[in-house]
Amino acid sequence: MRTARAVAPGRVNLIGEHTDYNRGLCLPFAIPLATTATVSARDDDRLRIASDRGKPWEGVRGERPAGWASYVAGVLWALEEAGWELPGLDISLSSTIPLGGGLSSSAALECAVAVALAGLLHEPLDRAARLDLAEACRRAETEYVGAPTGGVDQLASLLATEGHGVLVDFADPAAPTATNVPLDLAAAGLTILVTDTGVRHSLADGDGGYAQRRAEAEAGDPRRWRHIDSENDRVRATVQAVETGDWAAVGRLLTASHVSLRDDYEVSCRELDVTVDSALAAGALGARMTGGGFGGCAISLVPTAGAAALRAAVDRAYAAQGWAPPAHHEVQPSAGAR
Ligand code: ADP
Ligand code: GAL
Repeated sequence: MRTARAVAPGRVNLIGEHTDYNRGLCLPFAIPLATTATVSARDDDRLRIASDRGKPWEGVRGERPAGWASYVAGVLWALEEAGWELPGLDISLSSTIPLGGGLSSSAALECAVAVALAGLLHEPLDRAARLDLAEACRRAETEYVGAPTGGVDQLASLLATEGHGVLVDFADPAAPTATNVPLDLAAAGLTILVTDTGVRHSLADGDGGYAQRRAEAEAGDPRRWRHIDSENDRVRATVQAVETGDWAAVGRLLTASHVSLRDDYEVSCRELDVTVDSALAAGALGARMTGGGFGGCAISLVPTAGAAALRAAVDRAYAAQGWAPPAHHEVQPSAGAR
């Protein structure tokens, strides 16, 4: 039996939020949390999909599954749209990424399946091929599953390299460009603390917030565009500050991004705000929500030596609110799908 396996990471977005579907700039990086996909070719036209995080599904190729398995079927659909000829398949997944937490478990799933299939079919995996796979995975999510996301997550998972951020420019939404820029936090004695509020949104269920913001931006709402325009400026300024090693400036830009997302784009929530405020009070250089918002995760830029104290301070702030303690992950810019 022919079998191939791939690993694709989740991501955090350092800065550049709600800009991907607004022709703007984003600067995500891959995190060590990842999804593994194992694919085996079958002799018949059946499809069997299993995950350690969901109920298995079995059917014939072309049949449409409900629920989480539709993310997998969507990738197969998009690759066939791109001209691939796929056999019947057994696909199994395992993941260390929290689902629906804004760390792009869905993109990691899609990219892991796509890269594993590229391996199975001996398709190329150079940078140009990865851009094509990212587009197929984006189509799986937006056109097949129906989550109106923007495409930055798939590019981050597929193009990331260790110690780098991926600067993506969506000026031409049909052909985004991506440049890997050095982001060696470890060498600067810094780490990113990811704090998972535990509050969950769902993008695929037509959850009001994200789709509504998209529509408001499209309609030209000035307050939403004040965020988008200022956020693009902050991405450019962040790239410059990273280049010159001015980490205090990077921190200030992250915090300004949060304020703009909270007040102008209005996609934060109380749990994210408490996380950001308590992290800043405890000495973070900067902090902000990351991902779509309305829950999910916040990131704090913090000296590695101070990360444990910062976690404890955020936990105390949650306890003071009567909330369950959040999960934390310390991350560095990590490798992309392989
Ligand atoms: P995020 O991508 O930020 O984690 P989404 O709401 O976009 O959040 O995607 C989460 C959904 O993706 C889950 O509810 C589930 O349907 C699906 N999913 C992601 N990873 C897996 C996995 N490893 N196994 C099963 N389903 C998964
Ligand atoms: C994510 C979405 C991305 C991007 C982000 C906000 O949830 O998948 O495409 O729009 O929100 O920057």
